Amino acid sequence: MKRVAILISGGGSNMVALVNSMTGDHPARPVLVASNDPAASGLEKARAAGVSTAAVDHRPFGKDRAGFEAALLRHIEAAEPDILCLAGFMRVLTPDFVARFEGRMLNIHPSLLPKYPGLHTHQRALDAGDTLAGCTVHQVTAVLDDGPILGQAQVPVLQGDTADTLAARVLVQEHRLYPEALRRFALGQSEPIFLNA
Ligand code: GAR
Repeated sequence: MKRVAILISGGGSNMVALVNSMTGDHPARPVLVASNDPAASGLEKARAAGVSTAAVDHRPFGKDRAGFEAALLRHIEAAEPDILCLAGFMRVLTPDFVARFEGRMLNIHPSLLPKYPGLHTHQRALDAGDTLAGCTVHQVTAVLDDGPILGQAQVPVLQGDTADTLAARVLVQEHRLYPEALRRFALGQSEPIFLNA
């Protein structure tokens, strides 16, 4: 059984989808949900699901990313995860942190990478006149929103979409894609999966 730690910053809907998927004959189990924001509402959802939680507020660390990560790492290492999932975790990680988990750290990003790494992905897709949008699960490397793709899910961009309506449509697919990508990754299957809405 693989041990999975999940990092969140907010509501944690992807985290909940991952936690709920790890039952029965799933090859992994959640061992920790950690956040850089002690007020992240996802922490309460994790506790309600019976998963241990930790919070390390990044703000007192200011520009000291390494200091923040060292404090976060103490919680992560205590949980002895095999796999680390970023699920709406909104802090950029240092190369040292990434190197420590390289090959066993996944992220979900709300665009069809390599399009639109970074922020405001849905508005950027709308501004570009794209007719397809979606999300990507990938392995985390030192380059932001880069790394081997484990899966993508596509949704249509509809007439009259705003960033919010598009985000909501993509999020539904995130909740399908991430659990499936994690399950395959935990089984050692490296073939990416592609889903359509
Ligand atoms: C999700 O849409 C996720 O793809 C995105 O944040 C949202 C978190 O929602 N992640 C990023 O933008 C990473 N750069 P959630 O907390 O409900 O899972």
